[in-house]
Amino acid sequence: MLFLDRPAEKPEELFDREEELERLRRAAESRRLTLVVGMRRVGKTSVVKAGTYGMARIYIDARAFEERPYISYGDLLEALRRELRRLLPVHRRLGELLARVRGVSVAGVDVRFEAGRGAPSLSELLQALDEWAGGRGEKLLVIVDEAQELVKLKGRQILPVLGNAYDHLRNLSLVLTGSKAGLLLRFLRLEDSASPLYGRYAERIEIKPFTREQALEYLREGFRRAGASVEERLLEAAVDALGGVVGWLAYFGLNALRDPATALEATVERAAEIAAGEFCNFVRYMGTRRYVSVAKLAAAAGGARWSDVKRLLQAEEGRPISDSEVTKLLRNLVDYGFLEKRGELYAVPDPVLRRSLRDIQCLI
Ligand SMILES: Nc1ncnc2c1ncn2[C@@H]1O[C@H](COP(=O)(O)OP(=O)(O)O)[C@@H](O)[C@H]1O
Ligand SMILES: [Mg+2]
Repeated sequence: MLFLDRPAEKPEELFDREEELERLRRAAESRRLTLVVGMRRVGKTSVVKAGTYGMARIYIDARAFEERPYISYGDLLEALRRELRRLLPVHRRLGELLARVRGVSVAGVDVRFEAGRGAPSLSELLQALDEWAGGRGEKLLVIVDEAQELVKLKGRQILPVLGNAYDHLRNLSLVLTGSKAGLLLRFLRLEDSASPLYGRYAERIEIKPFTREQALEYLREGFRRAGASVEERLLEAAVDALGGVVGWLAYFGLNALRDPATALEATVERAAEIAAGEFCNFVRYMGTRRYVSVAKLAAAAGGARWSDVKRLLQAEEGRPISDSEVTKLLRNLVDYGFLEKRGELYAVPDPVLRRSLRDIQCLI
């Protein structure tokens, strides 16, 4: 089945992406740090999960923390503990190594962490994992999905832990994904000399939306495998409305298998709601409606220039707006993945969000 309502887990569930899979596998083998970036729903989690299927890996889903104002150290440890419990039944040696870490107790295939002050240190846990991987002679992938969310971790510093892993834990390979590529880079601070990750090399794999032809072929292939025949005209209309974002296309495919007559309308409506909801959450979080004005402008004319944005805001508010404020608004919209800069123009790459922005309100 090519239409899934969850990320792909195995390579055979993926359409295309051979090149990305190959790059990911090579990077996981030979690099310390790999970043997988791209728009929401473009297929990052799927590429990472399917691409590392069968490899030794720890998968932390930081997207689960997206709506939270902050992440506690306990939350992060709990996510790690779930993964360790998955590995323990098969890997006894791992249990022995973990049991040596302060604050950890292992009983059979269960692992427990002390809470509060006695909680184990993340660095020591990673060290134990590194030693285990070294003993097996195989890299262990430590995957953090939507890793920019870790910026919200309270009470502990995560960057020094990552920096230490990069420098010293030779049997670990870090794979971080991010829908908000700008935020991910801001979080890692690879170019900031005060950052523990300063100057470290990161292999960057960008997952792009499908081209129009790939998107059509994905839908054709998906329906063919499901044994359904759907009119070419409907497929074209779907790609016109949803673009090359595979998450929207997969949702359309699933709807169309149930009821081709209403599928496109139902998909567009639901997708617009989701996209608008995410955008309004961002606006509320940032606390200013200026983002609504700027994004609407970028959506309307197929893109907006910096100077268009400044002019619009000044006209709307009837007073001068500083250059740095205009730059900041645009930078945040790009960093959070809502806008893309193409030459001089700022545009909304997701056609679904572009349409929602036409009459979006966002109560804040
Ligand atoms: N290459 C692909 N072939 C088929 N379906 C895909 C592919 N990539 C992603 N999908 C589907 O699209 C949806 C979104 O994918 P996901 O990997 O969660 O995106 P992201 O992590 O970028 O937000 C999921 O339902 C997934 O099954
Ligand atoms: Mg994902």
